[in-house]
Amino acid sequence: MRTMKFGPTDQNVDAVILGAMRINNAENPQAVIETAVDAGITFFDHADIYGAGNCETIFGEALKKTSIKREDLFIQSKCGIVPGKLFDFSKEHIIEAVEGSLKRLQMDHLDALLLHRPDALMEPEEIAAAFDELATSGKVKHFGVSNQNPSQIDLLEKTVKQPLVANQLQFGIMHTGMIDSGIHVNMTDDGSVDHDGGIYHYSRLHDMTIQAWSPYQYGFFEGVFIGNEKFPELNKKLEEMAEKYNTTPTGIASSWILRVPNMQVIAGTMNLGRIKEIAAASEIKMSKDDWYDVYLAAGNILP
Ligand SMILES: NC(=O)c1ccc[n+]([C@@H]2O[C@H](COP(=O)([O-])OP(=O)(O)OC[C@H]3O[C@@H](n4cnc5c(N)ncnc54)[C@H](OP(=O)(O)O)[C@@H]3O)[C@@H](O)[C@H]2O)c1
Repeated sequence: MRTMKFGPTDQNVDAVILGAMRINNAENPQAVIETAVDAGITFFDHADIYGAGNCETIFGEALKKTSIKREDLFIQSKCGIVPGKLFDFSKEHIIEAVEGSLKRLQMDHLDALLLHRPDALMEPEEIAAAFDELATSGKVKHFGVSNQNPSQIDLLEKTVKQPLVANQLQFGIMHTGMIDSGIHVNMTDDGSVDHDGGIYHYSRLHDMTIQAWSPYQYGFFEGVFIGNEKFPELNKKLEEMAEKYNTTPTGIASSWILRVPNMQVIAGTMNLGRIKEIAAASEIKMSKDDWYDVYLAAGNILP
């Protein structure tokens, strides 16, 4: 497993994260965790809302059945979404959410906590107070955000003392807005539209790690593009690259993301074979030529 620095810290983390959002659909959650760890993936991503809390419970129970030690894992969770109702970054909600996650996971600390989706009414002082309390009690080691733009991060950083190490954002071959706008600067085509305040370059400038969520989906959870007949040209290219790099199309879709500086990939598969393919793909370094070929095969254009 390739490792990388976690944001500006000295903490080394795996390039590949296994997301636990779908672990409530796994036939054998224990085998999922064991397969991931055997393949070198020790970083797991959770959220208090996944499966309405069940995903953390299932993970915590399954982990107990393995011989894997908690200290050998990097466990991240997220909070701040109250499904269908509001986004809540109040101090009270953040602390309660972490307590809930720790209880369900049967753990005494999280290695990282991310604020899941921006709360329009957020008060940075409250977030800072919550982070201070969680850091001082040792319940959370690192802090970050998810789905936030540069201004929102700057606003938080006015008051939050701890470095914001990571930002979880949707990114993959079929979801490239974050890099398109940088390629199309000063043009008037669709690719030039800046959807996120230049978050990709901001993250590089500020040493924030980007964690790419739903990396194999197109649209917003519309489906998987790999092997999908809606994308014949892309799949032809993925097959060709898979042969060249001695991997699979899923491996190429993963190494394509990991070729972008500062990126981790969060895979959501519960398929044991795919977990191994994705873990192994972290060692592949695609050439620039091939990376751009895949970008173009996905239907993108260069100015
Ligand atoms: N911060 C946020 O707002 C946010 C939002 C969504 C997700 N996330 C995080 O991102 C993680 C990944 O999200 P995701 O599960 O939507 O992403 P994903 O990895 O793109 O999708 C995984 C799903 O695709 C299926 N799949 C089918 N063919 C596949 C192939 N060839 N390769 C890989 N997967 C294939 C998997 O089924 P099988 O299990 O059968 O392989 C699984 O159901 C989540 O677990 C969560 O941790 C964060």
